[in-house]
Amino acid sequence: MCDDSDMGAAGALLEWYDAHARVLPWRVAPADRARGVRPDPYRVWLSEIMLQQTTVAAVKDYFHRFTARWPDVAALARAEDAAVMGEWAGLGYYARARNLLKCARVVAHDLGGVFPDTEAGLIALPGIGPYTAAAIAAIAFDRRATVLDGNVERVMARLHDVHDPLPGSKETLRAHAAALTPATRPGDYAQAVMDLGATICTPRGPACGICPWRAPCRARAAGTAPDLPRKAPKKAKPVRRGIVYLGRRADGAWLVETRPESGLLGGMLGWPGTAWAETPPDPAPPCPGDWQPLGAEVRHTFTHFHLILEVMRADLPPDAVPRRGYFLDHHAFRPGDMPTVMRKAHDLARDGARVAQGHALSGQDRGVS
Ligand code: ADE
Repeated sequence: MCDDSDMGAAGALLEWYDAHARVLPWRVAPADRARGVRPDPYRVWLSEIMLQQTTVAAVKDYFHRFTARWPDVAALARAEDAAVMGEWAGLGYYARARNLLKCARVVAHDLGGVFPDTEAGLIALPGIGPYTAAAIAAIAFDRRATVLDGNVERVMARLHDVHDPLPGSKETLRAHAAALTPATRPGDYAQAVMDLGATICTPRGPACGICPWRAPCRARAAGTAPDLPRKAPKKAKPVRRGIVYLGRRADGAWLVETRPESGLLGGMLGWPGTAWAETPPDPAPPCPGDWQPLGAEVRHTFTHFHLILEVMRADLPPDAVPRRGYFLDHHAFRPGDMPTVMRKAHDLARDGARVAQGHALSGQDRGVS
C-alpha cells in the first residue's frame, strides 16, 4: 500500500476508482480496461453528447434505446431524421440530436466510419465542443486531455480552496485540472474525477470523511468545502408567452407541425402556434375552427427563459384545410415523440377531455411544471 504523498493525488484517485467506479452502460470497467478491453468510440461519443447538460440517471434509458436501435455509427448515419428526433424526444436541447445525426453522417461517409482519436480531430465534428472533445479523447482513446465539467470544477475549487467565483475562476480551475491529469490511465482518471464529483464531492453535504482526496483537500482543512465553488449571481430569466393550438378531426387525426430546423426545438414534432415573446401574442390559429381556451397553461423553463403557453383546443371539420401544419393520423401520433413542452400541452388537453367526460382527476395529474 502506498500513501497519498508517494503515489500522488491522481494515483490515490485511481485506486479509489478501481474499487468504487460506477457501473454505467457506456463504460468499460477499470478491471476490463486493465486487461486490454477498449471502449467503443461510438458508444463513448453517443453517451457524451447525451450527457451534455443532462444527468446520468436521465440518459441511461435513452442510451439503451439508441444503441439497441442503432448499434454503430453506420446504422445511425442511415437513420431517418424523424426517427432520431422521435427517440430523442424528452431529453431536451434538441440541437444535440440534429448535430448527432450530422456528426454520424460525417464519420460514416467522410471518415470511413472511424472517429478521430485526437481532441483537434474531434472538435472539428458537428456538436463536439472543447469539453466533449476532451472527454471522448480521454475516455475512448486514453489521451491525456483535461476534462472540465461542472463536477470537475467543484472538485478542483475544493481541492485548491479557490474562492474566486465561477465563471471567472474557470481558467484557474482548468489549470489545476490539467496539472493533475496523469499520463497513465487518463481515460480512467477522467471518469474517476467525474465519479468523485457525482458521488462524494457533491454540491451539498460532501462526504469528506470517505474521500480519497481528503488529505490533500485544502477546502476540507479550511472547512469551506460545502460553500465552494462560489458562483457569480445569475441574471433572472425573462418570461415569454405564446399560444399553441391543438386541433383534432373527428377521425382522431391531430393538426401538428414539424418545427423549422433552425431555432428552438428545431426539427421536432410540435403544435402550431404563435411566436414566443415577452409581449402577449396575438392569436394566430393555424386553421379556421371554433378554437376555445382550455383554461390551463403550460409552464416550461428553457436555458434562457421561462415559457408560459396558453392552450387552445378545437374539434375540426373533416374538410378542414390548415394554413400551417398537417394532419397526423391518430395511429401515427405518439405524444412521446414530442418535446416535453409540447407533450405537456397534449396531456393538459387529454386531461381536460377526461374532465369533460366526467372522470375524476387528482390535482397532481393536472399539474404542470
Ligand atoms: N458526465 C459527462 N460524461 C460522463 C461520463 N462519461 N460518465 C459519467 N458522467 C458523465
